[in-house]
Amino acid sequence: MSDLKLDPGFKGRDFISIHDFTQEEVNEVFRVTSWLKEKQRRREPHQLLLGKSLGMIFTKSSTRTRVSFEVGIYQLGGYGLFLSANDLQLRRGETIGDTARTLSRYLDGIMIRTFDHQDVLDLAEYASIPVINGLTDLLHPCQVMGDMFTALEKKGRLKGLKLAYIGDGNNVSHSLLFGGAKVGMDVTIACPAGYEPNARIVELARKDAEASGAVLQVVNDPRQAVSGADILYTDVWASMGMEAEQEKRRREFAGFCIDSRLLAEAKPDAIVMHCLPAHRGEEITDEVIDGPQSVVFDEAENRLHVQKAIMALVMAG
Ligand code: CP
Ligand code: NVA
Repeated sequence: MSDLKLDPGFKGRDFISIHDFTQEEVNEVFRVTSWLKEKQRRREPHQLLLGKSLGMIFTKSSTRTRVSFEVGIYQLGGYGLFLSANDLQLRRGETIGDTARTLSRYLDGIMIRTFDHQDVLDLAEYASIPVINGLTDLLHPCQVMGDMFTALEKKGRLKGLKLAYIGDGNNVSHSLLFGGAKVGMDVTIACPAGYEPNARIVELARKDAEASGAVLQVVNDPRQAVSGADILYTDVWASMGMEAEQEKRRREFAGFCIDSRLLAEAKPDAIVMHCLPAHRGEEITDEVIDGPQSVVFDEAENRLHVQKAIMALVMAG
């Protein structure tokens, strides 16, 4: 394998939204991801972050994000610290600013998963080290970088692909809009009336799409979205923090389930994605998620590789 040169333009930057990066930079993350994935497949050392430490703040649950970041930093030669927000002084009133300034004296990077997107922006403002967004109520950029890398592996391109997202206009749908807009992939969000994605995100994504040629749509009919789609994507109907609405949403999202009948209306070689965790029998049936068109565990794996690339790009050197 040829040696890897990291684009110095990433060094020290935060990774909070795909919207903040150019199409070339998104492609650079994928180039580094491919290199790292192959290194890992060959079990060859690739300690680009030798001796560096990543703090991982969680105020919400996680399986994939926690494990993939912790294993990822380890494989890069660094060390990951799991920091439950319950145990930090943050919970007892220490400000985000003071937390950021303190952690910046110990660590080389911070990954945070939390509710309010503004908290991540504030953390990044006060920290002197890179901050990586591991999910907020608004965005889930690392997820969508892993998803787009998976689509690239499966389809050989991103530009011109059609992705149909069926479900809630949530954080994942927002990052899909930003991601599609950057790389020229059409994204149609199909959601029940009242559950549309944030209008400001749609507006910003449409501005990005002017450069890439992506067509971004929001509709209320799943069949309209799925027709001619290369990728079907779904996520839980009630995201973390919305547990109280679970029952109401179960009723209002009836008809927004990816089942075999809906899948049959997409292209015959369409792939099915889900960021996981899935509520089987709600937004997706067992038959589809376990079926031959599903790539959900490839997506989960690629979180590891793409996040290693992001960490290496922003934290190395
Ligand atoms: N997809 C995702 O972020 O999974 P976790 O909530 O398990 O981290
Ligand atoms: N939309 C989901 C994604 C989980 C990875 C949530 O925020 O709970």
